[in-house]
Amino acid sequence: MVKFIPVNEPLLQGNEAKYLQECIETGWISSEGPFVRKFESLFAARQKRKHGVAVCNGSAGLEAAVVALRIGPGDEVILPTFTIISCAAAVVRAGAKCVLVDSDPLTWNMDVNKIEEKITAKTKAIMVVHIYGLPVDMEPVLALAEKYGLMIIEDAAEAHGLDYKGHPCGCFGDISVFSFYPNKHVTTGEGGMILTNNEVLEKRCRSLRNLFFQSKKRFVHEELGFNFRMSNLQAAVGLAQLERLDDFVAKKRHMGATYTKSLRDIPLLQLPVVKTDYAKNIYWVYGLVLGNNLPLDTKNVMQRLAENKIGTRPFFWPMHEQPVFKKMGLFAGESYPVAERIARRGFYIPSGLALTDAQIEMVVSAIRKILG
Ligand SMILES: Cc1ncc(COP(=O)(O)O)c(C=O)c1O
Repeated sequence: MVKFIPVNEPLLQGNEAKYLQECIETGWISSEGPFVRKFESLFAARQKRKHGVAVCNGSAGLEAAVVALRIGPGDEVILPTFTIISCAAAVVRAGAKCVLVDSDPLTWNMDVNKIEEKITAKTKAIMVVHIYGLPVDMEPVLALAEKYGLMIIEDAAEAHGLDYKGHPCGCFGDISVFSFYPNKHVTTGEGGMILTNNEVLEKRCRSLRNLFFQSKKRFVHEELGFNFRMSNLQAAVGLAQLERLDDFVAKKRHMGATYTKSLRDIPLLQLPVVKTDYAKNIYWVYGLVLGNNLPLDTKNVMQRLAENKIGTRPFFWPMHEQPVFKKMGLFAGESYPVAERIARRGFYIPSGLALTDAQIEMVVSAIRKILG
């Protein structure tokens, strides 16, 4: 019987079991264990940053980043509407205002030409989000940040092993954040990492992560923090995963190239951009966008793929169309046509690290049958 092909399945075949065994044998299972610091410093070094602060997930990392940068009521943060809710939630929870930008129709990343018109006297930061395996075009964003004195929060949750003009993603933000959810190129089950070169921000993120405990008077708190700690068990898995990151990127690129070769002749089907003049895709996920003239309903195509035992996921739903934000009275009357279109016409197909060539072939043949 043909087995269901999930959208994602991680690969845990390196030193994961060995390092976990070490945690159990030594009794170091909490966040105080040695793998946490080791993972922090090696991950930071891989992304060419001075400091890494491991946290319990990427959403928590974004939340801590916004608070660490003292963004709050009266401040505005510019971010893409086409992203995960974690980005906007961090800004909204801090009491600041999200100012949204539409997407580039080809890369699906925020359209950097539309940022400057959104800058006001209240703008404090730009939150860039590298989407689905290609980076945001960072040079124009860095130039704007410089020109207007803005901070950059870099959401590199999907960008492990991705380079922009030869520099690793995660090295561009005043604070940069990664996720280690199991569909990421490096996983810890649940987990995240904050990176920065700024020692003051590093210390502040460490305190924010750890309830603002103090070293001398432990249970006396000067500020409200969170328990966003990562356990030694998670860091042990992360370290083993990090050792294989180059292989993982190569595997994902092989998957991307195979899908592209097999699907590119289907009319009106948009595939991920293989490369731009600043980056080569690492295919965090392999997304498809149905052309508007393709007389097929996205949900129906996904349903038919599921009937063929193939898992899919819809694209992100834009922030300005989120019911939760509408109820809060946010983004009324705003429209971002590119994000609205790709959200309705886009979905992604099995793209996990454990995906085999035989499974890719099955996915391709089902897509060709359905899109015929
Ligand atoms: C762009 C982006 N930012 C943030 C996150 C949140 O990460 P986590 O799921 O670890 O909270 C994700 C998760 O997939 C993401 O894709």
